[in-house]
Amino acid sequence: GYNNFYEFTTDKELVRHPLIIGKFVTDPWQVEVTGLCEKPFKIDPQQLIADIGLEERVYRFRCVERWSMIVPWSGFTLRKIIEKAVPKRTAKYVKFVTAMIPKQMPGIARLPAYPWPYTEGLTMAEALHDLTFVATGIYGKPLPKQNGAPIRLVVPWKYGYKSIKSIVKIEFTAKQPKTLWETLSPEEYPFESNVDPGVPHPRWPQNIERLIGTGIQIRTQKYNGYAQVAPLYK
Ligand code: MTE
Repeated sequence: GYNNFYEFTTDKELVRHPLIIGKFVTDPWQVEVTGLCEKPFKIDPQQLIADIGLEERVYRFRCVERWSMIVPWSGFTLRKIIEKAVPKRTAKYVKFVTAMIPKQMPGIARLPAYPWPYTEGLTMAEALHDLTFVATGIYGKPLPKQNGAPIRLVVPWKYGYKSIKSIVKIEFTAKQPKTLWETLSPEEYPFESNVDPGVPHPRWPQNIERLIGTGIQIRTQKYNGYAQVAPLYK
């Protein structure tokens, strides 16, 4: 009930309203896995679930706006998708793209200066890390549309905006992809975007976070507490 999904609205509590998200068709759906790989493919997320199976991951989720939550996701590691595609050696990054359907997404026309579609990216090493997850469900049920149905990314040691929703394309690239937020404001939303209490955002310090719905504030931890990713950044 508290979502960021700017293709629909910037009002976090309105996103799930049927008049806002009701027209969004998330089934059937196709995700294209393409770019620098030996075996590109297109697949319905339901088929991915059937092929790979689901596991549940309970992760911290930390937004750069300084709110956070503990979320039980279901899905599978991104690595499972990457292995199916067999990336070439020249593939150094993975680019992700959200659907762009202005007729179903009323927020797009309201933000004409935004470089739609919503795009995100990871290095190949980040994408292959065991914590990097593709979610198709939340709280044991399929993802609601406002949370990025039918398939979204979850990267728990990075700020929430890296966790791109309603993915239609996953592309292996040689060059670092430009993301929507980095294009809009590189100082505020750099490509890497690891949670780090020691690096303040230009508008807000990042050492404290507010647990949604509790009134409790806690100290933010480096890598959002996922210290096991530190070797990626040596
Ligand atoms: N993905 C798309 N396509 N559009 C968005 O506006 N917002 C991001 C991220 N993924 C966003 C997106 C931001 S800023 C956050 S904090 C999370 O989604 C919010 O995920 P949630 O609504 O499931 O909590």
